[in-house]
Amino acid sequence: MKLKDSVVIVGLFLLSFFNLNSIVEARIRHYRWEVKYEFKSPDCFKKLVITINGISPGPSIIAQQGDTIIVDLTNSLVTENVAIHWHGIRQIGTPWADGTEGVTQCPILPGDTFRYQFVADKAGTFLYHAHYGMQREAGLYGSIRVGLPKGEAEPFSYDYDRSIILNDWYHKSTYEQAAGLSSIPFVWVGDPQSLLIQGKGRFNCSTPGIMAGVCNATNPECSPYVLTVVPGKTYRLRIGSLTALAALSFEIEGHNMTVVEADGHMVDPFVVNNLYIYSGETYSVLVTANQDSSRNYWVVSKMVSRNNKTPKGLAIFNYYPNHPTKSPPTVPPNGPMWNDVESRVNQSLKIKSHPNYIHPVPKTSDRVIIFLNTQNKINGYNKWAINNISFTLPHTPYLLSLKENLLSTFEQTLPPDVINGYSNYDINAVETNVNATTSNSLYRLKFNSTVDVILQNANTMTVNNSETHPWHLHGHNFWVLGYGKGKFNVTEDPKSYNLVNPVMKNTVPVHLYGWTAIRFVANNPGVWAFHCHIESHFYMGMGTVFEEGIEKVGKLPPAIMGCGDTKRLIKP
Ligand code: C2O
Ligand code: CU
Repeated sequence: MKLKDSVVIVGLFLLSFFNLNSIVEARIRHYRWEVKYEFKSPDCFKKLVITINGISPGPSIIAQQGDTIIVDLTNSLVTENVAIHWHGIRQIGTPWADGTEGVTQCPILPGDTFRYQFVADKAGTFLYHAHYGMQREAGLYGSIRVGLPKGEAEPFSYDYDRSIILNDWYHKSTYEQAAGLSSIPFVWVGDPQSLLIQGKGRFNCSTPGIMAGVCNATNPECSPYVLTVVPGKTYRLRIGSLTALAALSFEIEGHNMTVVEADGHMVDPFVVNNLYIYSGETYSVLVTANQDSSRNYWVVSKMVSRNNKTPKGLAIFNYYPNHPTKSPPTVPPNGPMWNDVESRVNQSLKIKSHPNYIHPVPKTSDRVIIFLNTQNKINGYNKWAINNISFTLPHTPYLLSLKENLLSTFEQTLPPDVINGYSNYDINAVETNVNATTSNSLYRLKFNSTVDVILQNANTMTVNNSETHPWHLHGHNFWVLGYGKGKFNVTEDPKSYNLVNPVMKNTVPVHLYGWTAIRFVANNPGVWAFHCHIESHFYMGMGTVFEEGIEKVGKLPPAIMGCGDTKRLIKP
């Protein structure tokens, strides 16, 4: 009786959201993944890497809008837990499948197999990656490509479709890095050793101090990524960034790129010479192989926004039939200056919704939350904080504690919508605040309400220093209302919001000493992380969590339980 009811409900749900055609077409994409540690040399330097079925980046998920994706994940890390987040997938009706350890599930224990099952509700370019500790930067990541339902076409055309993930790469283990971040004195890992393009980079093996046998420049694992193109053809490149730290500039020597998609949304096309991309973002660009085809060209990924010593990441744009590994006859283009803030902000401002794909933005909001982003000390430890609260994850995931009323498992005081003394706060002054606290409190949003979040940047604890923070929201797409310089003015700045054609995204940069305003509707029952996508920043507290419509969340699957107070729930 009960089962029959739920089947009927699912049927109606599908009918109301997809046309008949896509119901007929909707398929199940079933993946079986084994996650384990293996020695790999993505940049010629051999280290332990977390692989999926033997590879990093992991297998690509390829689906069509409306398909159900099932991933049976076996944790073979032996002594380490795991959880995987499907970055950009909203998890409508399946908040327990978001893969955020501490928020939506308990970690998957060594030896266990956990089933992720969710619907790819929207076409676009998305990512997946570990969401437990700092595991992502150990190599556990990949791409998700969701195509339009049959009969629908993009507002642009291309001959071939390719996915490229950009990353930065450290030689130190994530454990060594994490221990440094939570030590007194603070130990910072520094610049990444290399930049990877689709999992391949190149570290200079003759760097002094590298032990013999650890680095091998002729290892095929670190031969550059090659993108072979047929002269005259147009390529859609789906570019995603999952860097631990670096903001990047991506370019293809001698070729312009037309930006057509951002985080799964069609944008009003614009042409760039280099694409700025921040951790957690995805873009589709169109590039036509219309240059001298007798040679190859460089593909370059360059670290920007921080003064750094990281060498450029290089790949080869190979015109068929030239030899794929033949080095271009030129030196790789230099790319923009690391400190050219102006051109980065200008590119952010260019990203608008495609005129035929505008999701009208609510003209007003019900609640405005200002997030002052600061670097702090707490009891001598370096932290990042939002409104003086440095976020920590609870041991019992919120989804379980809220749904099952285990409220003693996290701090019940609600965090503030604006910090006390915000109007007097000087964002240009060196941060001296020693009054910050750590907390695992979360924001509770009224179901279906419209929420604005203003992300306000500031000076760090270092003189004349502010950093770029790419903020990512789980479970939603938000409208990007605007970017501004300096301190947000509550009465004046909203007048400049773009309420006509704002793009929708799931990740957005907050530029140096500036602010970014976003708006979203709290209409997805569940508990959703919202955080800086720089791995070390989130680890040091730069994030928070939103709850909305918890009472509307369906019965939680027992597989997400097993840690903290949830052990009580699964006792016979
Ligand atoms: Cu891509 Cu919460 O992360
Ligand atoms: Cu950050």
